[in-house]
Amino acid sequence: MAEVTFGGSAEEVSLEEVGLRYEVDGKIATITLDRPEKRNAQTFATWSALARIGDSLPQQVRVVVIRGEGPSFSAGIDLRMFTPEGVPGQGSFAASALLDGATFEQRLARAQQGFLWLRRPDIVSVAAVQGHAIGAGFQLALACDLRVLADDAKLCMKEPALGLVPDLTGTKPLVDLVGLSRAIEICLTARTVGAEEAARIGLAELVVAPGELGQAVEDLTAALLAVDRDAATATKRLLQGASGRTLEEQCVAEGREQAVRLRALFT
Ligand code: CAA
Repeated sequence: MAEVTFGGSAEEVSLEEVGLRYEVDGKIATITLDRPEKRNAQTFATWSALARIGDSLPQQVRVVVIRGEGPSFSAGIDLRMFTPEGVPGQGSFAASALLDGATFEQRLARAQQGFLWLRRPDIVSVAAVQGHAIGAGFQLALACDLRVLADDAKLCMKEPALGLVPDLTGTKPLVDLVGLSRAIEICLTARTVGAEEAARIGLAELVVAPGELGQAVEDLTAALLAVDRDAATATKRLLQGASGRTLEEQCVAEGREQAVRLRALFT
C-alpha cells in the first residue's frame, strides 16, 4: 500500500497537519479523517486537502473510501471557527463575515471542491460512518455515492441550530435521497437520525455492527470492482443524469451510451 503525501506549496499544509491520512492500494483510495481526539473535526484546510486529493487522484483508482478514526466519523466543523480567535492560520466565521461577496464565494467554492469530486462518474465513493456525523461530517457522508453505517451512527444537520445553512454541498443530495419534506424536517429540527432510520429513509445502503464496518466496506468495494470499469462509468453517468431528463431523453441517453459500449466490446 502506497502512503501518499503532498509536498505542498508554502500556503499548503501537509495532510498529517490537517488530520488526514490518504492511502492508495491499487484501485482503492482510502481517505481517513484522523483527528480522533477532536472527533475528526474539520477545517478549511481539511476541505482544501480533500480537493487536492481529488485533483491528483491516480487514474487507476476506481473506489474511494472515506472513513473516520476513533468513535466518531466527524463532529463537523472545528468549533474554534465560532470563536473570535478562530482556527490558527485559517480565520474564523467572524473574519469570513467581513469578506467581500466574491472573495467569500471563491473561498467557499474551493471548500466545496473538496466534496464535489467524489461524484465523478469514473469512481464510486463510499462513506464508512460510525458514531457521530454532524454538520460538515454529515455533508461529507452525503457527498459520497454510497453510505455504509455502523449501527451506532448518528447523523445530524446541525447548521440551522447554529444560525447557519449547510453549505458544503449537502443540501441537494439530502433532498434527492429523502425528499424535500423529510429534508426540511431533518435540517430545521437539527435532530439526530439514527442508523436504522437512515437505512429506512434512503440515507444508508447498509447498516452493520460497528466491528463489521471495515469488512462490509471491503466486501462492497470488491463487488464494485468486479464490474467492468467503462460500463460502470457509463452507467453511473446515466443514473446521475436521470432525474434531470424526461423518460424520452433518458431513453436516448441510454442508447448513446450503449452504442459506445457495443462498439468497444464487439468491433
Ligand atoms: N470542533 C472542535 N473540537 C471538537 C469538536 C468540534 N466540532 N467536536 C468535539 N471536539 C473535541 C471536544 O472539544 C473534546 O476536546 P477536549 O478533549 O480537548 O476537551 C474532544 O473533541 C472530545 O469531545 P467530547 O468529549 O464532546 O466527545 P463525546 O464523544 O462526548 O461527544 C460529540 C462527541 C457529540 C460529537 C460532541 O463532541 C459534539 O457535540 N461536538 C460538536 C458538534 C458540532 O456542533 N459540530 C458543528 C456542526 S456544524 C458544521 O459542521 C458546519 C458549519 O458550517 C457550521
